[in-house]
Parts: sequence; C-alpha cells; structure tokens
Amino acid sequence: MSVGNAASAPNGGAQQADSGGSGLRILLFTGKGGVGKSTVAAGTAALAAAGGQRTLVLSTDAAHSLADAFGCAPGTIGAEPTEVADRLFVQQVDAQLRFEQSWAEIQRYLLSVLDVAGLDPVAAEELTVIPGAEEVLALLELRLQALSGAWDVIVVDCAPTAETLRLLALPEALGWYMHRVLPVERRVVKALRPVLSRAAGVPMPGDTVFDALERLYAELMEVRELLSGPDASVRIVLTPENVVLAEARRSYTTLSLYGYRVDGVVANRVFPADGADDWRAGWVVAQDEVLQRVEESFAGLPIWRSAYRPGEPVGVETLTEVARSLYDGADPLAAATSRGPFRVTAGEQSTVLRLALPLVTRTEVHLARTGEDLVVTVGSYRRLLTLPSGLARHRIAGARVEQGELQVRFVEDPVDEAGG
Ligand SMILES: Nc1ncnc2c1ncn2[C@@H]1O[C@H](COP(=O)(O)OP(=O)(O)OP(=O)(O)O)[C@@H](O)[C@H]1O
Ligand SMILES: [Mg+2]
Repeated sequence: MSVGNAASAPNGGAQQADSGGSGLRILLFTGKGGVGKSTVAAGTAALAAAGGQRTLVLSTDAAHSLADAFGCAPGTIGAEPTEVADRLFVQQVDAQLRFEQSWAEIQRYLLSVLDVAGLDPVAAEELTVIPGAEEVLALLELRLQALSGAWDVIVVDCAPTAETLRLLALPEALGWYMHRVLPVERRVVKALRPVLSRAAGVPMPGDTVFDALERLYAELMEVRELLSGPDASVRIVLTPENVVLAEARRSYTTLSLYGYRVDGVVANRVFPADGADDWRAGWVVAQDEVLQRVEESFAGLPIWRSAYRPGEPVGVETLTEVARSLYDGADPLAAATSRGPFRVTAGEQSTVLRLALPLVTRTEVHLARTGEDLVVTVGSYRRLLTLPSGLARHRIAGARVEQGELQVRFVEDPVDEAGG
C-alpha cells in the first residue's frame, strides 16, 4: 500500500492507474438491510485515512446514509467527493444522473420505437427503465475514481445483498449479448435500415445507439475487472441472527460464483457479555450460538466483531473508534489472500477447472455447456464462464464439489478428434 504523495489534493494528479498492482485498494461492504454496512464502511474508510491513506468512501445505494453516519448536515455531501476529515472524502453517487448520462441514448431509441408502436409515452418511459440498472451505473463512478489516480483506498458502501449480487453479474450477462448477438444485429440492421424504416416507419437504431451500448459495456467490464481484481475484496457484514446468517451464507456462495474475493466477515452489534441482566444475558447466549455457526460457515476467513454500542456511532471520531476496535490491530487494508476467480490444471488424462464455491453441495449446482461457455447455476444465480481456448474441444467428464470448491473435469472429445 503506497502512501504516495498523500498530501496532494485528490483529482489533481494525472497519475496512471493501471489495473493490477496499481496499489489502489478497493473494499466493498455488503450484507442484509440494516446490519451496519454504512457504519462499518465509513469506519473502515476513516481508519484508513487516519493511517495516512488518501481515502474515498462512496455509496451506490440510493438511500445514502453515509452523510448520516458522518453526521454531516443535509446537503453538505453530494455527488462529488467531499472532504470530511484529513485525506477522507465521501461521495454519494447520483445514480439517477449517471443513469441518464449512460442510458439516455439507448432509451431514446427504445422510446421512439415504442412511440411508433402507439404506446402511451408514460408507459413507454416505464418500460425503458431497467430495475436495478441505476446501481450498476453508479458503479461506473468507481471506475472514474479509480482512473483518477487520486486515491490509495476506495471503500464502497453497497446496497443490500441481493441487488448487489445481481448487479455485479450484469456485465458478464451483457457480455454474452455483446459478443454473440450485437455484432450480428448490427450487421443485419445496417443492411435492412434503408428498406425497413421506409416500409414500416419503424426507426432503426443508428450506429450511435450501438456505440453507446458498446461504450457502456466496455466501461462495465472495466468495473467488473476492478472489482474482481487482486486488489479488490468484499466484506460481508452481518448481525448474529439466524436469518441474517442464512443470507450471508448465500451471498458468500454467490460472490464466489461470480469470482469476487470475500476476505472477511464483520459480525456487528454483538452484545457485550459483562454485567448483563437476564434480558441481555439471554441475547448473549443466543448470539453466541449464531456466532459459533458464523465461525463454521466462514472457516478460514477472519471474523471481525463489533460490539453493540449504547448509541448510534456517528461522526468521524466515533466511526474510527468503531473500526479500530473492529479490526483490533489487524491491518484493515491487508491484501486478500484467497485464490483468484477460477483455475485450470491440466493432468495426464483430463483437465480440471476449479472454482471456489463455498457452502454448496453438488446437487445444488447445475452445469451446462454452450459452445465455449460453461454455464454454472446455483439457485437463481447463473454464471457464464468463458472457457480457456485449450478446453474448447473438450467435453465435461464429471464434476464434484470438494472443500468449498467446484471441480469440473474435462476430457478431450474423441468424436471431435475423429471429425478433424
Ligand atoms: N455497532 C453498532 N452499535 C450501535 N448501533 C449501530 C452499530 N452499527 C450500526 N448501528 C446503527 O444501526 C443503524 C443501521 O446501520 P447502517 O446504516 O450502518 O446499516 P446499513 O446496513 O448500512 O443499512 P441499510 O441496509 O439501510 O443501508 C444506524 O442507525 C447505525 O448508527
Ligand atoms: Mg447503508
């Protein structure tokens, strides 16, 4: 973690922010609603800044509770990074604005088509809004900030679990469309445009619509690369309650499925055991049981604990203190040691693809093969893994889940060989 020219003003430097080994540490905090994501994200950022890092904490969540956590007056923190303490900047991304900037062109085209189709403009407007897309586009801000070279650390306060997970997968899903469908569509549209727009009165998408889509896609892929890269990691925040743990376990699996590194778990609002009355003693016992299961579920990961405080932790000082006792002397910015997204090992007889996939059994995983993609489905989450070219002519010979890892065995396809 280089401190670099820590004193220089953000956005001032024209430093190169090359992906991979640029020294920029990215931390994401996710978890069920209300467990303390914003508090812990803000605290971690405050601690990093206190330690000399140029730190930005940004929220992509429309609820924007960062300003509340820092105890800032309404309106003082906006869509641009605002300094709240030495080296500590807060930004609440205006998702709506970003959405308009990135999606407007594509939306205009869709609206014009729906208009020709005779749809009521208000209904048409509704149709062209993708639920959840705003938060993805808010992540584009992360890309800009990473590229600015102004930061040593960027902390992201994410929206509650399910959305975040779904959104993080979007670039990959889009990628499939971009690589397979779009080029064809673009050619077809190009050939048909003069004929069709005259005949049917349907406006055909101009090249600018495709360009806008391609640009958006390229930027989203960069975001994904940043977030799944070696300098980024995700921390799951939970409170010691069974329903919360159940969701945290699911998100651990899903984050792994999508190739994100989970490098720790924050157990927040843990009741202190000392001097307890009967009511609190009851809670301490109940929480202990869940915490035991937390340890088992996330074996191998650090479990950081944060006490239930007598009041809401608000303000830079209190948040720093929360983070200090949370990490308890450990480096909050330590690089994630977990393995990368997926690995391929070639053996004599077969080649094995390994993907970290904790907390699932083989029966919960569905595998399919489409062309050069391996489609892995767990519950309602699906990932398309583009196979290395060496595996293109191989078929799946078997799969198993062992010690939190999905292992898919490939063998060379004899039919394909015979066919030349
Ligand atoms: N350790 C703690 N002790 C006492 N209060 C806490 C603690 N952690 C968080 N809180 C309080 O709990 C409330 C919810 O915390 P926070 O806003 O950080 O949760 P969140 O997960 O970001 O919520 P949301 O899902 O709505 O974004 C806040 O009022 C916060 O001050
Ligand atoms: Mg929050």
